[in-house]
Amino acid sequence: MKKIYLIGIGPGNLDYLTVKAINTMKKADVFFLLEKRGRKEHEDLLKIRKEILKKCLNRGTYRVVTAKIPERKKGSKSYKEGVKTWRQQKAEVVTELIKSKMKDGENGAFLVWGDPSLYDGHLEILQHILKQGAVNFEYEVISGITSVQILAEKHKIPLNRIGETIVITTGRRLKEYSPAEVVNVVVLLDSYSTFKHFKDADIDIYWGGYLGTDDEILFSGKLKDVIGDLQRIRKKAKKKKGWLMDTYILRRPEGSESNE
Ligand SMILES: C[S@@+](CC[C@H](N)C(=O)[O-])C[C@H]1O[C@@H](n2cnc3c(N)ncnc32)[C@H](O)[C@@H]1O
Repeated sequence: MKKIYLIGIGPGNLDYLTVKAINTMKKADVFFLLEKRGRKEHEDLLKIRKEILKKCLNRGTYRVVTAKIPERKKGSKSYKEGVKTWRQQKAEVVTELIKSKMKDGENGAFLVWGDPSLYDGHLEILQHILKQGAVNFEYEVISGITSVQILAEKHKIPLNRIGETIVITTGRRLKEYSPAEVVNVVVLLDSYSTFKHFKDADIDIYWGGYLGTDDEILFSGKLKDVIGDLQRIRKKAKKKKGWLMDTYILRRPEGSESNE
């Protein structure tokens, strides 16, 4: 039987790679690296994954297979439908990789950014492939350190105070919240500075760009006072590196009205 490992690698910095992740990498015969054409961000992230392999494993003990995956088409369909179609296309690529690039009894691995359980499609893709019955394999998930954990670590904050709720969402969904509903809202996947919808409310922001990497930027303050600076920082970072990965938490200040 073939076996696939989904290995969470944290932010790509060796300091955040778990011992379990490294030990599992040592078991893999082949690493599958999925590549999106022509995007600087994906080229950089691919390079980081290759460097991790070089630093953690002995030369000649593993194979690397890179495969091109399509970009998600934006436009005609709803966001959810668009992502579903895109995952279907990725599933076809992954099926072919498992079928043709692994022998029976071999272990294959995907290096997943952060942790495979948080806004990542690999698990659903593997489950979809098994359901379709196109190829058979076992699989295992190895946890990684998420960007959310590093955000809390670097700002030296807990994600919640006593008994409070934590919401984890995307920039796209953040707009559905009213300022009064914000207690602790962690936001990922936000290319559009959606925090600006809360600029008039009494809310604190703890923001981190490229967390856990050498380019890390941290910023925090009362949103209404710092929003201009934060937007400038985001714009400058994006221009300098060609892409930006950021995560933030919006938080009701201590002592303000609570419904909990
Ligand atoms: C597709 S999600 C993957 C999340 C990942 N599985 C995790 O555990 O962090 C990508 C989003 O995660 C966040 N992210 C991932 N790595 C980050 C980093 N090093 N610094 C800041 N945000 C990061 C950003 O919000 C980015 O848009």
